[in-house]
Amino acid sequence: MKVERKIESEVIDRSVLMVIAYMMNRGLIDSLDFPVSKGKEAYVFRAKPGRKVKSDFVAVKIYMIETSRFEHMHDYIRGDPRFRKIGGTKKDIVYAWTKKEFRNLMLMHESGVHVPEPYFFRNNLLAMEFIGDAGNPESPAKLLKDVGPPDPKRNFQQIVRDMKRMYDVGLVHGDLSEFNILVQGDKLVIIDVGQAVLLDHPMAEEFLRRDVANVVRFFRKFSIKADEEDILKKVKGQEKAKANEKEGKEKTKEQETERETE
Ligand SMILES: Nc1ncnc2c1ncn2[C@@H]1O[C@H](COP(=O)(O)OP(=O)(O)OP(=O)(O)O)[C@@H](O)[C@H]1O
Ligand SMILES: [Mg+2]
Repeated sequence: MKVERKIESEVIDRSVLMVIAYMMNRGLIDSLDFPVSKGKEAYVFRAKPGRKVKSDFVAVKIYMIETSRFEHMHDYIRGDPRFRKIGGTKKDIVYAWTKKEFRNLMLMHESGVHVPEPYFFRNNLLAMEFIGDAGNPESPAKLLKDVGPPDPKRNFQQIVRDMKRMYDVGLVHGDLSEFNILVQGDKLVIIDVGQAVLLDHPMAEEFLRRDVANVVRFFRKFSIKADEEDILKKVKGQEKAKANEKEGKEKTKEQETERETE
């Protein structure tokens, strides 16, 4: 009870309830089951799907307005041409961040990166595919840091390919590590993409190096010997498709998604 009350005051405020009711009315979710996680910035809930969603469960991520590190968020949003016109309040920034995570997920998902499929966003709520544990789909998949890679060689190759696909579509994850990768059966699913930046972000190169270093370091524990510079080259290999060029397509998709859910 104590925990529930805390959740209510911290994350489920009136405006969050309104969006949840909206999602229910639109057939996106049927009920909110329980919190799967309380992270630094957000709660993630498991939800039952509504009539419009064809999956066993939905994950609903709700960003906290008060406790989010919005200054830090601002650094990742500033200069992003996708978010030129946003206000300066905490709320504005957290809302923009939620939208940014949705758009990043959309771009990545369309490019074949292993991420949860995004369904809907509004204000500080984001609904996406629930990544269940392969052996027990009612529970969320476990983090790579806790269970390790089921097939290190293939899993490593998958993550390198995913980083490359992100890069080719003009994005760098920026917080990629075993803490933001879920293990679902024999495949890995990358999560937490709100901070992912476009390639022309001043820190993009540094973030990419850090992502590659994290991944190489983690897989080294499982006897995968890879050289950071080689992997970096591999990821950057082909010509970079600018995200701006995809903007139009992305927008249409986003509108479609919003239409579908209206
Ligand atoms: N789509 C999903 N399906 C299943 N579980 C998920 C999903 N998205 C997130 N989770 C769970 O919720 C946790 C927090 O999600 P995420 O990393 O996106 O948020 P965060 O606020 O950055 O949290 P943290 O600070 O713990 O990293 C994840 O570690 C994972 O266990
Ligand atoms: Mg995380």
